[in-house]
Amino acid sequence: MMFTTQLWLATLLFTAALALPPNLKSRKLSFGQDLQASLSLDPSLVQIGYFSDGLSPSSSDGKVASDTSFNNFINHCATRPGVSLTNGEQVLAGSCSSTPMGFLAPKNRMPHAKFVFPFNTAVIPPNTTFTIRLAVRNLVTGHFANPDTNFHAAPQETDPDTGEVIGHSHMALQTIKSLESTEPIDPQVFVLFKGLNEKADDKGELSVVVPDGLPDEGFYRLASINSATNHQPALVAVAQRGPLDDMIYFEVRKGAKMPQSP
Ligand SMILES: *[C@@H]1O[C@H](CO)[C@@H](O)[C@H](O)[C@H]1NC(C)=O
Repeated sequence: MMFTTQLWLATLLFTAALALPPNLKSRKLSFGQDLQASLSLDPSLVQIGYFSDGLSPSSSDGKVASDTSFNNFINHCATRPGVSLTNGEQVLAGSCSSTPMGFLAPKNRMPHAKFVFPFNTAVIPPNTTFTIRLAVRNLVTGHFANPDTNFHAAPQETDPDTGEVIGHSHMALQTIKSLESTEPIDPQVFVLFKGLNEKADDKGELSVVVPDGLPDEGFYRLASINSATNHQPALVAVAQRGPLDDMIYFEVRKGAKMPQSP
């Protein structure tokens, strides 16, 4: 019964979308209303794949039912009335975002990165200025929205020509007990966090100076966080892939000589 209803709705909406003249499918409704100001979902944008929970009667491979929606989840936050709307803020207790994911980077343009300095397993001296350098690819750097008022507040944008994510990166530095440590690391605790908001240099590198270096000997984990303009992690076209970020481990040790950066 449910299936029949879904099929009927899908057919209706699909036909409705097809019936729209091509010039009305993308931007404007027939009565001239701006789609970007309208409070209703344009029928041509209904994602009919969301009608299905993804399970077939023969499914037996551990998949769970997906949430489904007939209206692109536009009113999804109403499913938990007590939860704050994100509303552009970093709501520390958690919140509900209604921002669409937006444009996803194509498979052959997925952002990725590698730390150039410190490099993985480097040993550096304490209390000595050094520059963290991150080589980035396929990220249109230098785009950074206000994180206090516009956090996760706009969909990811990509360059219309190349498909590359428009945004910026970050670096997060945390301590670990040892290089062999197997303890998961609490993301609330970090030594240093920096937005890499500038445009990458002509070598494609983002950098940040750590003045006077790190005072404490020990082991560190350094990670990149490649992000869209509004700080959400970068989103791409395929699930099966290498990570879009880099993560390296290095040591601060008294008496070490600062290694040459490559
Ligand atoms: C780094 O300098 C600080 C401040 O002078 C000092 O307290 C600390 O012991 C130094 N670190 C090391 C590993 O010597």
